[in-house]
Amino acid sequence: MFSLPASLLALAAVSHASPILVRDTNDTNPFVFTNYNGLNFTQMNTTLSNVTIFATGGTIAGSSGSALATTGYTAGAVGILTLIDAVPEILNVSNVAGVQVSNVGSEDVTSTLLLSMSKQINTFVCEDLTMAGAVVTHGTDVLEETAFFLDATVNCGKPVVVVGAMRPSTAISADGPYNLLEAVTVAASPLSRDRGSMVVMNDRIVSSYYVTKTNANTMDTFKAPEMGNLGEMISDTPYFFYPPVKPTGKRAYSIMNITSIPRVDILFAYEDMSNDTLYNAVASGAKGIVIAGAGAGGVSTSFNYAMEDVINNHGIPIVQSTRAMSGEVPISDVSSDTALHIASGYLNPMKSRILLGLLLAHNKNMTEIADAFLGSTDD
Ligand code: SIN
Repeated sequence: MFSLPASLLALAAVSHASPILVRDTNDTNPFVFTNYNGLNFTQMNTTLSNVTIFATGGTIAGSSGSALATTGYTAGAVGILTLIDAVPEILNVSNVAGVQVSNVGSEDVTSTLLLSMSKQINTFVCEDLTMAGAVVTHGTDVLEETAFFLDATVNCGKPVVVVGAMRPSTAISADGPYNLLEAVTVAASPLSRDRGSMVVMNDRIVSSYYVTKTNANTMDTFKAPEMGNLGEMISDTPYFFYPPVKPTGKRAYSIMNITSIPRVDILFAYEDMSNDTLYNAVASGAKGIVIAGAGAGGVSTSFNYAMEDVINNHGIPIVQSTRAMSGEVPISDVSSDTALHIASGYLNPMKSRILLGLLLAHNKNMTEIADAFLGSTDD
């Protein structure tokens, strides 16, 4: 006999009892509904979609003694319930549950944390028919890496919206509250399905596959310089410029059975770069290396010989990306007859590192890795 999943039965019961369960202000319990995964909701209005917010920390949860400080504050100081409570308008667009994954500055986000969060999103959001999407609150400094990882590893069609803030919650005109509202709105919207992971900040919706932090300080920092935005937020309503589209070369990876991501180092190319930097990375245990090359992946002649030695004699894949803000590293610019060079295409060094780590975690060999990156190049 056909039977409804537990979450639907629970919601049906709630719906029958009352279409809206809101917090009783005399009650100290902030939650009115717990779903079958143990996620607690601060409101259950059955006419709205459900969204889970996974909080990791960063400036959006940052605090400072000065209302003027946009630097020198403590990132990751405020918990998820405080963030939700600060934006009551969220409850007009969605029922939200919060999961405190961590509360750290984003530089302290690790691949272990990424694996665990992606598994939680796959389980709590993808597998739950009552859940519309996920929001991830995150520090902005390495936000694009987490966003790219989630784009590659959560592939159920539901939106995963990554959001941060450039001003701490205690600053005048803090951007976090509105960014969070917009992120929840995008995650709750049926228009957002089948678009992969997206970054929503400063009224822009950008693909996580391409987005990068372009400015260390200002609020309009997240951009995809060549590829542009997917859409815009106007009066908290998403406007998508195009129907759902998959970035060229994007592949999906399941991490449900992956327990660790092998170490991948990024080496930044510069004039007079020493070959030692490469051999030090190998000696320190890197299983893959990404070069932030000059221009279209360029390194010195001597460094190129060292790379070919590492590829051929140590069996370590090296991906050549670019230290330039945008543009492509085509395979024709880095290939040779003497070693299997890998070009990053349009993936910047940080995104190349995440992809290479995922491929190594799936035990892909050098040829399969080269093949996966070929999808992002034009030759
Ligand atoms: C961080 O990345 O955690 C600090 C900076 C920020 O969130 O903007």
